[in-house]
Amino acid sequence: MKTLRPLIVGNWKMNGLKAQLVELEAIASLVISLQPNADILICPPATLIDRAVQIVAGRISIGGQNCHTDITGSFTGDISAQMLSDMGASSVIVGHSERRKDHGETDAMVATKAKAAWCEGLFVIVCIGETEKQRGEGIALAACGEQLSRSLPENVPAYATAIAYEPLWAIGSGHIPTNAQIMEMHAHIRDYLNQRFGVAGKMIRILYGGSVVADNAREILALPEVDGALIGGASLEAVEFDAIICAISKDL
Ligand code: PGA
Repeated sequence: MKTLRPLIVGNWKMNGLKAQLVELEAIASLVISLQPNADILICPPATLIDRAVQIVAGRISIGGQNCHTDITGSFTGDISAQMLSDMGASSVIVGHSERRKDHGETDAMVATKAKAAWCEGLFVIVCIGETEKQRGEGIALAACGEQLSRSLPENVPAYATAIAYEPLWAIGSGHIPTNAQIMEMHAHIRDYLNQRFGVAGKMIRILYGGSVVADNAREILALPEVDGALIGGASLEAVEFDAIICAISKDL
């Protein structure tokens, strides 16, 4: 039994039209019948959040994949934490590596986005992760530690925060770190959180993300200090995502 209630997050990225909402009904139905000892959150594209919230009707949670640093203003094409909250989203992912890489998001911006989201009452998932080069050079722990320290502002509300460790080379690649590598990184993150936030640091869930599928979810979730998963490709279809929920439910 895990000390912290696990959090399983599906990140649909830029995938999903209205027709895909049937997948959410199937996921929400399974959660009601299985009653897993885990929180289930799906982050569809912003265009579907409103409808998604209506469909799941509180059976699972719905979140955003990103938010702006400001609450309102002249930021064409952006979406604010207030807008997410207004649509009924409970949570938001900030600092995903695709946002950092494709949109030049810095650690400082990620910290400001997290603050904006907490102000609007959202639960925040802050993503970090090393590149393949950093892993190869033996500086993965240091790189993630620095990224984490700069991406978290002061006064982090632990109850409304999770960290997602997503090695960039594992995202969408089918390559998974070894159990030892995951355990080493999660222990490193936990030590950092404990040192910086004391008792509150122990409440922050640390998720693993990168090529999680039904076949490996159970083993990964069973590792110490792995308090959940952030799942991309395998969250798009209910049949695969439900298989993950079933697989992990056996041990939780
Ligand atoms: P993946 O993506 O599960 O498809 O590897 C994970 C993520 O980017 O959050």
